[in-house]
Amino acid sequence: MIKRETIEKIFDTARVEEVVGDFVNLKRAGSNLKGYSPFNDEKSPSFMVSPSKQIWKDFSSGKGGNVVSFLMEHERMTYPEALRWLAKRYNIEIEEAELSLEERQKQTERESLFLVLEFAKNWFKKQLFDTSFGRSVGLNYFKERGFREEILQKFETGFSPDKPDALTQAALAKGFKKDFLIKAGLSIERNNRLIDRFRGRIMFPIHSLSGRVLGFGGRILNSSLKTAKYINSPENEIYHKSKILYGIFQAKQSIVKQNQCILVEGYTDVMALHQAGITNTVASSGTALTIEQIQLIKRLTPNILVVFDGDRAGISAALRGIDMILAQGMQVKVLLLPGGEDPDSFSRKLSAGDLQKYIVDNTQDFINFKALLLQNDAQNDPLKKGELVRNIVQSIAKIPNAIQQEIYIKEVARIMGISEEVLFKELAIILKTAQNRADKEALRQRKKEVLKPVEKNQFENPVISRREILEREIIKLLLLYGHREIEVDEWELKEIPEDNSDPVLEKLTRRSQVAELIYKYLQDDELEFSNDIFQHLFNLLTHKLMQREVIDTVKLMPELTEVEAKLISDILMEEEKYRLANWKDRQIEVKSKEDTLGWHVMDVLLNLRRLLIQDLINEQKEQLKQPVEEPERIQIFNLIKDYLLLFRILSTKLYRLA
Ligand code: CTP
Ligand code: MN
Repeated sequence: MIKRETIEKIFDTARVEEVVGDFVNLKRAGSNLKGYSPFNDEKSPSFMVSPSKQIWKDFSSGKGGNVVSFLMEHERMTYPEALRWLAKRYNIEIEEAELSLEERQKQTERESLFLVLEFAKNWFKKQLFDTSFGRSVGLNYFKERGFREEILQKFETGFSPDKPDALTQAALAKGFKKDFLIKAGLSIERNNRLIDRFRGRIMFPIHSLSGRVLGFGGRILNSSLKTAKYINSPENEIYHKSKILYGIFQAKQSIVKQNQCILVEGYTDVMALHQAGITNTVASSGTALTIEQIQLIKRLTPNILVVFDGDRAGISAALRGIDMILAQGMQVKVLLLPGGEDPDSFSRKLSAGDLQKYIVDNTQDFINFKALLLQNDAQNDPLKKGELVRNIVQSIAKIPNAIQQEIYIKEVARIMGISEEVLFKELAIILKTAQNRADKEALRQRKKEVLKPVEKNQFENPVISRREILEREIIKLLLLYGHREIEVDEWELKEIPEDNSDPVLEKLTRRSQVAELIYKYLQDDELEFSNDIFQHLFNLLTHKLMQREVIDTVKLMPELTEVEAKLISDILMEEEKYRLANWKDRQIEVKSKEDTLGWHVMDVLLNLRRLLIQDLINEQKEQLKQPVEEPERIQIFNLIKDYLLLFRILSTKLYRLA
């Protein structure tokens, strides 16, 4: 937990243009900065940063936000990771809230482990590239296997000389403590002496998503030796094999851009594919795929392509992996390599172009893959065929999304020539037994997954109603002009003629603060906003404005949720773009919107109220569709009549306004 004061300090200090500038090439454009979108390949720059508002917006993908959300989007950091990254960049000391002594110790211990691992990585690298022995033995080994130097640099590979304690001595001389060398898994204590764990091996550092070294894998050079081909760092506070994917740091940008992650088995497979230009590749490092690893990928993309060696004994483990991916609500495809090949060996037999073509041509749906795999003896045996179908439907049952399930069922029906009805029945039975079984955890997970996307999509992929558009406009007016004093024409009702002609209104010009005016009008109808985001922002902004506080959007950020912050920065950036476009076209600062502010505020308020009345009328009309007693029926009629009158008055006011 980072202290609130620290978070505020980070938001105060961090400059969005500087941080974005670390990743994107930016050029001045008026008071803003422009560049090419880092999220899309594009021909003309549509990515903008506003230094004055401290926000960014990518018009090609619709993404936008503040300095923290940029790191979250672009670097796939979590919120606290982004804050810590910024604190480091700006030399801000992080104060932790209510950390116990024990927690604090644990944290400094983690930091110490990271430091010693970083040292070791650099030391191994130096041995490989800068010592004659390392070059002739280690580098030569890599080269013979076809790895070019730039790919070795990218993965920061190294070399551990075949000496008892070379690294340990170097680290101790640098002041690293014995305890941490042991905990980090670099040194082993034997007969009261420290020796190196990795000796005479080429070294593969394993990076976290954010690029810190968590541990190492080391491979012997001579396969005929009678020791394990690979040894890895032991489990400790920071190295958890089940949560790690080799190459995730180097692949993450590409995974996001391609919206797909290719999953292979080994260190060299990852490097070979990256060298062939297939840079969205990571490895599970020879272990069976875990939920944590899948969830790590899920932070970057919902699409996984699993690559299998043609004749591996591990097919059943692979099938389990597929089901686990499906259960996470992700899409899974499969690529089978020719017998005896792994991605590394296979990639060296083809040109980069042919390899990419092979992948595209041979990638299959998991259904096809299963069907193919299990089909051999099912061909003419109805019993076996039934088993196969059940097996496939079992996979489909793992998918948390019902629509997705339906799509796959239809696919199976088509491929296997079985009626959809039968398949849906089978699915229902499997789901029921899954429910009955002590499979509660899986179900809970499934429910969570089903609920989550709805919550999120509501905002990211909205079917926006007219009412929401107006509500959003209210938030915008409060944010940009809430503190302004304006002159507005409020038309007051004088008379309602009996003959059904227009209500008689009298013009009444008043001065008022925008926020007050909005508050007054919406309070009358006790408007509830159609979602919590608008509601919370409305409360927050009016509360501040009514106390004559000036809205400082940078100061506001720590008080907002992620979605709220995004909405605010979207609004601010739309306004910036609007100004910029006008400024560029006519070389003048446009004032039009502000000149007509009073008119605009009234227009939005009256329209919103009219919409509310419309809703109320519809509600009453709905009631009339059901059987109701006579007195109540008359009541409803009268209510509708009142509402209709209100509607007419509002319409006339709007008409006058125009
Ligand atoms: N592995 C391991 N320990 C072992 C063997 C394998 O940790 N004793 C892991 C490594 O991450 C390895 C992966 O499993 O990269 C796949 O193993 P394998 O296919 O045997 O090795 P390759 O990656 O093909 O390595 P190489 O091509 O160098 O033989
Ligand atoms: Mn291999």
